[in-house]
Amino acid sequence: MTDRYAVIGNPIEQSKSPLIHTAFAQVTGQDLAYTKVLSPLGEFAQTVDAFRAAGGRGMNVTAPFKLDAFAYATDLAPSAQLAGAVNALKFEGDKVFAENFDGVGLVRDVVHNLGCPLQGRKVLVMGAGGATRGALLPILMQGPAELVIVNRTVAKAQELAALAQKSQSHNPNAGVPVRGIGYDDLQGESFDVVFNATSASLTAQVPPLPVSAFAPGALAYELAYGKGLTPFLQLAQQAGVTRLADGVGMLAEQAAEAFLWWRGVRPDTRAVIDTLTVPLV
Ligand code: ATR
Repeated sequence: MTDRYAVIGNPIEQSKSPLIHTAFAQVTGQDLAYTKVLSPLGEFAQTVDAFRAAGGRGMNVTAPFKLDAFAYATDLAPSAQLAGAVNALKFEGDKVFAENFDGVGLVRDVVHNLGCPLQGRKVLVMGAGGATRGALLPILMQGPAELVIVNRTVAKAQELAALAQKSQSHNPNAGVPVRGIGYDDLQGESFDVVFNATSASLTAQVPPLPVSAFAPGALAYELAYGKGLTPFLQLAQQAGVTRLADGVGMLAEQAAEAFLWWRGVRPDTRAVIDTLTVPLV
């Protein structure tokens, strides 16, 4: 029997998840159907209940329901707990297992697809919202030399840095120094990898990052996907950075992690990344 999965959100038309998971199912020979579910606002639980009652096995969760999914879950993985948000659900009887694969997908894209190890590197994450929260633990697991969180509202960066320090009890490479600072404090500092996890690109803005923040040979990584050369990537390019990436690989890799979790088989992401790549121009 064909197993049913779906992505739930509002709006949902824009989601690439059905395309990605359908491609994964084809290459791995898995018998599944993956659809889009538009949930009315305020009716997340009822909509998921109905999907489960109809035999649904799992869901991806997108905006604005990542916190509703957190509340709905019966079993939260550490990734979801630290992120404070859920992007994948698995249904087994009365149990609702919940994960957040965004951060692990990001790290897999950087380390595996882009060939940029984080171990021993200086890493800067811009922003202190949900996207950053999800990325912290997977980055720390790689054992960078240092992790710095920079944010417009400095107190939020400091709070997340403290949380990340605490979370290192899950981390065999425990002891990575983590700092939360403001943009003014970046003078005189440079980093091997700079992630833009702010929502600034969605409004075509760029945080006040000094160009000196990019070390020679740095990677500039925009977590947003499909927006071409965003103001952040333009800034990096003007600073002489040649290694530029957006979140297309992160999107494919978080999907592959969910697929592995649901089906026990890891699909290769290369073809999906090639299909979804929007040139950085
Ligand atoms: P998400 O879940 O996508 O991370 P969020 O939780 O709303 O979204 O967080 C957005 C992040 O982008 C915040 O860290 C925000 O900074 P503040 O905490 O100071 O609000 C950051 N951000 C958004 N627009 C920005 C801009 N133009 N310049 C700098 N930072 C910006």
